[in-house]
Amino acid sequence: MISRRQLLYFSALLSCSYAISNIGCFALSGDNSDDSGLQYPLTLTLLKEAYWSEMTAFRHYDEYIQKALSEGYANIAYLFSALSISEKIHADNYKSLIISLGSSIKNKETDVSTKNTQKNLNIAAIKELEKINKFYPEIIKKISTESHDPSIINCMYSWKSHKQHVAMIRDIKKYSSIFFGILAEKIEKMNPNYYVCIICGSTVDEKPEIPCEICNYNVSHYQNIDRPLLKTL
Ligand SMILES: [Fe+2]
Ligand SMILES: [Fe+2]
Repeated sequence: MISRRQLLYFSALLSCSYAISNIGCFALSGDNSDDSGLQYPLTLTLLKEAYWSEMTAFRHYDEYIQKALSEGYANIAYLFSALSISEKIHADNYKSLIISLGSSIKNKETDVSTKNTQKNLNIAAIKELEKINKFYPEIIKKISTESHDPSIINCMYSWKSHKQHVAMIRDIKKYSSIFFGILAEKIEKMNPNYYVCIICGSTVDEKPEIPCEICNYNVSHYQNIDRPLLKTL
């Protein structure tokens, strides 16, 4: 289990060089299927938008894991792994809702671009903040107009889950001037342990002892995340 202070080091990495301008990844992809004859057409459009946003993030984190492992940042890869699983839970929740409302998702490729681990952290931080400050507030406002409660609740789950990451980033802004290599070295000496709620994607760094703060399901719904392994060809 890592301490709050250790967690701050991770957040500091995420905030290093935060002003990086290259955020052309995690792009949204729409779904062109016609849901106009179904009961919640706008909800379905927005659920699909959210689904592809989460899937794109998931696929990026999956690549970031491998890059971090190849560069010797096992603990940063572990952090990416926890975030990746959280994103996949969000995506799976949307997919289930889409199917329950009578529509479907067509699988398709998404463009995935990776850089070095330092830049990948920066991009991840920017995209997390975009989801908090723009993407989910807009989706929740629009989706509320059709009052499909399970869809609204799931969007709220995702939004709050991403807020956990942003809170980490903001808490540690003061460390952002520390050189990446020094910070990364400290992180690689730690022994982090991540848990993700399988209901809402809430991600925590200590073994949960109370119900999930986002969805309120009991602690049995938290999954301890395994450390990722470097894929071999
Ligand atoms: Fe997400
Ligand atoms: Fe939860």
